[in-house]
Amino acid sequence: MNNIFNLDELNQQGVLVVDGYLNRKEISALNAEFEQFIHSDIETAYLKKLDYSAGKGRKLFLRNLDAKSMSYRVFSSDFFKEVADAYLLEEFDFNKEIFLVEDISTSEHVAQQLHYDIARTLKFFIYLEDTTVENGAFCCVPGSQKWTSKMRENHSYEILPGNREFTRKLTDEFGEAIPIEGKAGTLIIFDTDVFHKAGKVSKGRRRVMRGHTRTLRSIQERKKLIQDQQPLSILSRIKKYFN
Ligand SMILES: [Fe+2]
Repeated sequence: MNNIFNLDELNQQGVLVVDGYLNRKEISALNAEFEQFIHSDIETAYLKKLDYSAGKGRKLFLRNLDAKSMSYRVFSSDFFKEVADAYLLEEFDFNKEIFLVEDISTSEHVAQQLHYDIARTLKFFIYLEDTTVENGAFCCVPGSQKWTSKMRENHSYEILPGNREFTRKLTDEFGEAIPIEGKAGTLIIFDTDVFHKAGKVSKGRRRVMRGHTRTLRSIQERKKLIQDQQPLSILSRIKKYFN
């Protein structure tokens, strides 16, 4: 595993691409595990099936994975921890969940619209196979995380589950979304405050694994916002009923 990263670039752009992060042997081992997980219909302590459009999705829990597995070794690596430490500068819950997705031409989901995530997350995103625009390259708008960060300061009560449309109302001042093509083993580290979307597959398939890291502060803040939202939503339902 390649372990050099440019912190300035990650800070400025909110996204960093590491070509050839995994070598051929590592990517082959990771692909073998992906193949096994993605076809497994049995839920275990470390694997959960996801509701997914055409295509497939699974979620792994890092702490329950076999420590000798390539999935565990990749997503618990000191390098990823070092990047999260340097970028987030506060305590975080490190890659607790790892998502595996396989998109095909008929896959349709909300992540295909340009957006920022409701919960700010640092994602470690790996292409398992060569990926181009044709098979759904990840797209993003570098630098746009700065705008999102201001939105969070001023509109935190609107950035909530159930109000997904708000995270689709974006500015175009940072330009168009750029597709990031890469060979199998390419790593994309990105702050989900960067506007981003999953590319649509027109031919073939796209296989991705990604680890999700969140700060403890953002997890707490989100819990509080959701709790605060509940009385409001009950009140608005009562109002609607009487109107
Ligand atoms: Fe997203």
